[in-house]
Amino acid sequence: MNQIRLDKFVAERTEFSRSQIKALVKKGEIRVDGSPARTSDVKIDPEVQRITVQGKDIIFREHTYVLLNKPDGYVCSTDPKDGQTVMELVPPELRTKGMFPAGRLDKDSLGALLLTDDGELAHRILSPKSHIPKIYIVKLDRPFEIKYINLFGEGITLSSGEQCLPARVKPVENCDKLAFIELFEGKYHQVKRMFAAVGNHVEFLMRVSLGGLVLPEKLGIGQCMELLHKDVENLTKPLDFDSFCRDFSVIFSAIVINK
Ligand code: URA
Repeated sequence: MNQIRLDKFVAERTEFSRSQIKALVKKGEIRVDGSPARTSDVKIDPEVQRITVQGKDIIFREHTYVLLNKPDGYVCSTDPKDGQTVMELVPPELRTKGMFPAGRLDKDSLGALLLTDDGELAHRILSPKSHIPKIYIVKLDRPFEIKYINLFGEGITLSSGEQCLPARVKPVENCDKLAFIELFEGKYHQVKRMFAAVGNHVEFLMRVSLGGLVLPEKLGIGQCMELLHKDVENLTKPLDFDSFCRDFSVIFSAIVINK
């Protein structure tokens, strides 16, 4: 990698401003390969040099990817004026400047939400053209009807007249009010409006996968984890809907039932 200024590198990966970084350098709290940095504008190569701030390693990576298991009551926005935002749930050491929620879950929806500063990947995941599936589990007000499978498969027309792409939907065995739905697009309130179009009502909605990445069981509601290289690759991989429903229906229906 080309050399870059130390303060630029640290500012992009932490919450410190350039002036705070300057002050940290003065106090000897920023080290390059173990020695206190002389100035904040010194050029470094983060791929080969070890940078520490207050004793913590600043790992080189171009972008940061965080998976949040979004709780109810938070808005997918970076603007605090919108209310309690999902950004508040990202621990400071994982938060980077330019990080944003890649896609939207409603304020009352839960589940897998990617937060990243990689606009290109976010676009790839969200664009219907990329054909990256997102799977949701829903709790319905009234029992699932088998006719939904064909209606959703043909493409639902919403009450606004908007046409949805064909989607797959499957009831959870032995729970007639729970179902999985797979979408390749993300219209406003889409899942809720699709079920409303067939005369039902979504009481609870949780996104359980993004591309080939399944919401890990160990990631509690409201918790975040940094995605590693391998997990990021999974985001753009397809996932077989039938196998997913077979393998994960017990885990996710238990989460919904116990909510
Ligand atoms: N569809 C909805 O209706 N709400 C969400 O939060 C996500 C998809």
